[in-house]
Amino acid sequence: MKKTKVEFLKRFGKIRDLPSLPVIVTKVNAMLNDPNTTNDSLSRGIEKDQAIVFKMLQLVNSAFFGLREKISTTNEAAIILGFDAIRNIVLSLSTFNVLDHLLEKKSNIRFNVDRFWRHSIGVAVLSKYIAEQTGVGDPEKCFVCGLLHDMGKLMLAHYFPDDFIEVIEHASENGLMYLEAEKKVLPACHPEVGYFFVKKWDLPPHLANIIYSHHAVQPGAAFFDESIIVNTADGIINSYHADFLNNNKFPGNMNYAYFDTHARKRFNVWIETAAQWFPKVEPLIDDALAFFL
Ligand SMILES: [Fe+2]
Ligand SMILES: [Fe+2]
Repeated sequence: MKKTKVEFLKRFGKIRDLPSLPVIVTKVNAMLNDPNTTNDSLSRGIEKDQAIVFKMLQLVNSAFFGLREKISTTNEAAIILGFDAIRNIVLSLSTFNVLDHLLEKKSNIRFNVDRFWRHSIGVAVLSKYIAEQTGVGDPEKCFVCGLLHDMGKLMLAHYFPDDFIEVIEHASENGLMYLEAEKKVLPACHPEVGYFFVKKWDLPPHLANIIYSHHAVQPGAAFFDESIIVNTADGIINSYHADFLNNNKFPGNMNYAYFDTHARKRFNVWIETAAQWFPKVEPLIDDALAFFL
């Protein structure tokens, strides 16, 4: 018999070997919630973790990040990009590492790690690009949420591979998209699973809201703009995906089934004209792939 949603999600709460996020994430979150934090104290806090500083400077100076000036210290990064951007960058880098390590441990499930990250990195870069070009939503929030939007899928595949395999088999037997099959087979879908872990790890509210609503955006909800941007980017990358994995070229056929109605309403022009502007984003995605993978 199909489990109830509560029973289903409870199993995730009982996982014993759940990795913890690095201390730096909790520390940066706490510092950003503290009104007494200054650029200096934030920089000093981050600098205790030299690996993250190195990665952060590499990321902010990378071509896909799109900064004109070169940043060489954490303090400069905090001044130029602001506190919140720093938090989102630290979150992106640390969570990516933790999840990527988790996947390395189990290679026997039918979950294509490379495909998963290529999709997520594509959505992250495209979400940030759309936010920057339209002035709608916060670009760094869009980036981290794009990167982690499907983490529920990853957790399901890692901890409950039988459920994951049932979904993909149901999808391929019935010619369904992954999400449609998930709705038929499981009591809760990957956005809810992702939300569960965001809460468990005590990550900031934008991640919780956007991950939860990335396939069904709630009008009036917090971070609505970022949610429809991530949904739009997800739909475009999903439409582009089959070819993206083979030769990185945009096929030009948009699959409208991927998009939420609010995203279609707001970003229809972007969706309709993607084949024309997407080539500008391709090199940025390539750079990000080279950086992360
Ligand atoms: Fe998703
Ligand atoms: Fe996705």
